[in-house]
Amino acid sequence: MKKMDCQTRCSLAEVQGIPMPEFFVSYWERVEKFQAFKGDLLIATYPKSGTTWTQEIVDLILNQGDIKKCMRAPTDERMPFLEWTESDPTLSGITRLQKMDPPRVIKTHLPIQLVPHSFWKAGCKVIYMARNPKDTVVSYFHFDRMDLTQPEPGSWSEYLEKFMKGQLAWGSWYDHVKGYWRERENKAILYLFFEDMKEDPAREVRRIAEFLGQQLPESTISGIAQNTTFTAMRKNPMANYSSIPDTIFDRKVSDFMRKGEVGDWRNHFSPEQNAVFEDQYKKMMANVPIPFRFEI
Ligand code: A3P
Repeated sequence: MKKMDCQTRCSLAEVQGIPMPEFFVSYWERVEKFQAFKGDLLIATYPKSGTTWTQEIVDLILNQGDIKKCMRAPTDERMPFLEWTESDPTLSGITRLQKMDPPRVIKTHLPIQLVPHSFWKAGCKVIYMARNPKDTVVSYFHFDRMDLTQPEPGSWSEYLEKFMKGQLAWGSWYDHVKGYWRERENKAILYLFFEDMKEDPAREVRRIAEFLGQQLPESTISGIAQNTTFTAMRKNPMANYSSIPDTIFDRKVSDFMRKGEVGDWRNHFSPEQNAVFEDQYKKMMANVPIPFRFEI
């Protein structure tokens, strides 16, 4: 196993006011100068919004539903993580990307203002997957409990407070979802929702395929939906992050493929926490009517 910069829980540092794991920040210049090419596709999300799910769907679409081809390597090798950069270049998303021939599929959690300029200059398409904030923060909490590279999450109530203040890695959920929403018609951004994917996966797979200019028969669309259910992905060693060692993902605490549901927030938010959250949500979202659903 290669030595990572962050062998234990890291602190956060800031890039243009956005908190991020400090080991990324040391190499920020590499991210800023990253060269995207025409045809590269960016999958952008706030953490825990269904990134891996979207990645698997996209890879299957681009490979006409061929699951064997999509099992050629783990997710982070097939579709590298743009801003994950550290001193050992072989572990860095950018190094992996530089070795791949365009068009590449690239994952990012960066808010829109930090996306390297070359993506816009090259006219790259972007798929943005958003998830309602209550389920997102619950998922993020359990992830930070098990991902030993992330800062110590503290108690659930402390964690929720940090989320509401935009103090978690990658910053404010509100700014993130609003940033991509506002630009979706000016740029080639397909804005999707986790809840819609749960409700009708085949419909959303079809939308993604159309956005990517892929004409697929209905049987392939439904095959992709079947191969990307929570149960199917949980069993797929190339899509469930089982390649990440237990020294980084403490699976005794939680699993990466945890529940994959809409509405799990009800098992975590107290009535008081929910009232305070609703109040903030109404204020923060008043000017941008993004149709989030908290249950389906
Ligand atoms: P939970 O923690 O609520 O289970 P990301 O990939 O952005 O880190 O998001 C991870 C979340 O998406 C986790 O949510 C995970 O279980 C869920 N997820 C991953 N694949 C999924 C799938 N095929 N169907 C539903 N949820 C999925």
